[in-house]
Amino acid sequence: MLNSISDVRDVLSTQQYIASDDISTALFLADRLGKPLLCEGPAGVGKTELAKSWAAANGRELIRLQCYEGLDETKALYEWEYAKQLLYTQLLRDKLGEVLGGASTLREAADRLAGEEEVFFSERFLLPRPLLKAITSEKPVVLLIDEIDRADAEFEAFLLEVLSDFQVSVPELGTLKAKHIPTVLLTSNNTRELSEALKRRCLFIFIDYPDLDAELRIVQLKVPGLAPKLARQAVEMVQRLRGLDLKKHPSVSETLDWARALVELNARSLDRETLDNTLSVLLKYESDLQRAKRAVQQSGERGGSGGRGDGGRGGRGDGGNDIGRIGGIDRIN
Ligand SMILES: Nc1ncnc2c1ncn2[C@@H]1O[C@H](COP(=O)(O)OP(=O)(O)O)[C@@H](O)[C@H]1O
Ligand SMILES: [Mg+2]
Repeated sequence: MLNSISDVRDVLSTQQYIASDDISTALFLADRLGKPLLCEGPAGVGKTELAKSWAAANGRELIRLQCYEGLDETKALYEWEYAKQLLYTQLLRDKLGEVLGGASTLREAADRLAGEEEVFFSERFLLPRPLLKAITSEKPVVLLIDEIDRADAEFEAFLLEVLSDFQVSVPELGTLKAKHIPTVLLTSNNTRELSEALKRRCLFIFIDYPDLDAELRIVQLKVPGLAPKLARQAVEMVQRLRGLDLKKHPSVSETLDWARALVELNARSLDRETLDNTLSVLLKYESDLQRAKRAVQQSGERGGSGGRGDGGRGGRGDGGNDIGRIGGIDRIN
């Protein structure tokens, strides 16, 4: 169905996902080569959204495994539904009594019980977790292994096994083999190095903050209520803030939140007051806020002195100091 890289870009755009050429290329190749795609990059740049959009664009169910420290096979693959097993044994107590009743010794009773074991260790009591769900699904699915860098290295090793043959051995049931090999996307926020082995198995894409044009398109798509001129100013500001040395740069999610906030506030332009009052939607550390405000102020003063010849105090507190004159903050730290 998808014959070219531009096809990939187009189907993603039907889901309001703006894909750069390298994202479209990586996804196209992952699809063609049948390999998992590992997407690495800072938080909030659209890694998870890419998997969601890819699944929706292909009309496939998205099965998501959210990784965290301590994640293990029972939460990722399957576990036995202990409470249900217990309930069944209680409800079936009479029947069990009949089965075990004729036994003369404890050993004989245990042997008889063991003979009934498969009743309790059957698929009826198996609780499939995301990996098993993806493997046993009747239809092809997209499997998202989200934030793999949060899981432990041991889990990564286990995951490699699953990704290499898409079959799972459940001792009580035998081997469960995938009917359809799922499309696999992994994401990582790069909080730790992933293993060479995992990287070898996957195609890799680093997703960085989008450039100005791409980010503007995202904002226009997702926050259509924001006036075009203001949208451009806002995105330019975000791009400049990313040039500052901050603890945490604003991500696309924050740009979108900010754009929505500007709509809610009926902002008409990005003047100093609006900026000061809303900067905390973009920056979540006090030190970052202070630094950004300082940078905006300094460049405002510079812009003022250069542009208006008013001795360097221009714009401060006059409420009309819009982004046009605070444009140089990327060079100030
Ligand atoms: N290229 C893009 N096209 C459309 N929306 C995007 C894009 N990149 C990011 N977003 C939006 O940014 C937000 C954060 O994306 P998300 O996938 O949660 O980030 P990540 O998983 O990288 O931390 C989402 O609301 C998503 O819709
Ligand atoms: Mg994510």
